[in-house]
Amino acid sequence: MVQRAPRPTTAKEASPVVSTTSPRPVVKWAGGKGRLLAQLERHVPTGRFRVYAEPFAGGAAMFFALADGARFDRARLADKNDELVALYGAVKNDVDALVEELRGIATKFAEMTEEDRSDYFYAMRSKDTSGLGAVARAARLLFLNKTCFNGLWRVNSKGVFNVPFGRYAKPKILDEAVLRAAHTALSRAEIVNADFETILHGLGPEDFVYFDPPYMPVSKTANFTAYAAEGFGYAEQERLAKKLTELRDRGVRALLSNGDTDEMRALYTKHGLHVTTLRAARSINSDPSKRGEVTELVVTTYDVDEGFEVRLAKKARAAKTRSSR
Ligand SMILES: C[S@@+](CC[C@H](N)C(=O)[O-])C[C@H]1O[C@@H](n2cnc3c(N)ncnc32)[C@H](O)[C@@H]1O
Repeated sequence: MVQRAPRPTTAKEASPVVSTTSPRPVVKWAGGKGRLLAQLERHVPTGRFRVYAEPFAGGAAMFFALADGARFDRARLADKNDELVALYGAVKNDVDALVEELRGIATKFAEMTEEDRSDYFYAMRSKDTSGLGAVARAARLLFLNKTCFNGLWRVNSKGVFNVPFGRYAKPKILDEAVLRAAHTALSRAEIVNADFETILHGLGPEDFVYFDPPYMPVSKTANFTAYAAEGFGYAEQERLAKKLTELRDRGVRALLSNGDTDEMRALYTKHGLHVTTLRAARSINSDPSKRGEVTELVVTTYDVDEGFEVRLAKKARAAKTRSSR
């Protein structure tokens, strides 16, 4: 996302609390949609939404992009990962304290030797977060995200963050402008640590939902639990496909992206949804030789090629013609 050009500030805007940076993800997340966003956005219906819902929020790249364009009145975000949701809670409700906490950590870290940095990282990693306050917990996640290998959040089968130290010379532990921009965007969002279904109630034709579920493991070796302790297997993908058809039947516009596999194509085609593909650069693999290009499945409850508004207009015209006959 591009940074906006500086513009003249009023006395009020000159306060450090205001950020002119475009909102963007505060964490680098496994499966984050940053790279794919421009392509995905072409499939997003035009206009402003009453409610925007992102039930598999992760780094919430789409949420921040739509917030940047003032594309919704309010938003609902959900994720099963409790550390991540706690982070969003702190960014939304206590950004000043979070900035100060990270400033302290960043200053301390900058003055450490390489060995001390590594020890500090592993001490932070092994901390029991249940005893931490909301701000300390959020600062820990951001610190680990910025200093771990590949800058990713990944947990093992017990739900414990297990990425090793990254040895970066100057990690940007505190990015105040990005945190403040996210704080502003999140002020219009309700964020829950819950299953995706919990934020889909009461949605209608003025709303929009973007689903970005965990991919099905593509091979027997790709069985790491990337995001949360519980996996998201075929039964979960089916539950999601069913939800999507329910939304379509209620006239809700919803877009879903997923790994392009025969199984997933068959699942969504079976449910009569619109299925198309786009090309994506995959960066999730820690082995650079396996990062290459993959295709991504895009599933919608509306016809992407024609555009939702065009279809609605056509439908309205057809209805008018019928009633005047
Ligand atoms: C592919 S990632 C989303 C990435 C995100 N779009 C981004 O831009 O970073 C999938 C997310 O779904 C979450 N998740 C897994 N199972 C879930 C469930 N049943 N309900 C809600 N969230 C879930 C994971 O914790 C993970 O953060």
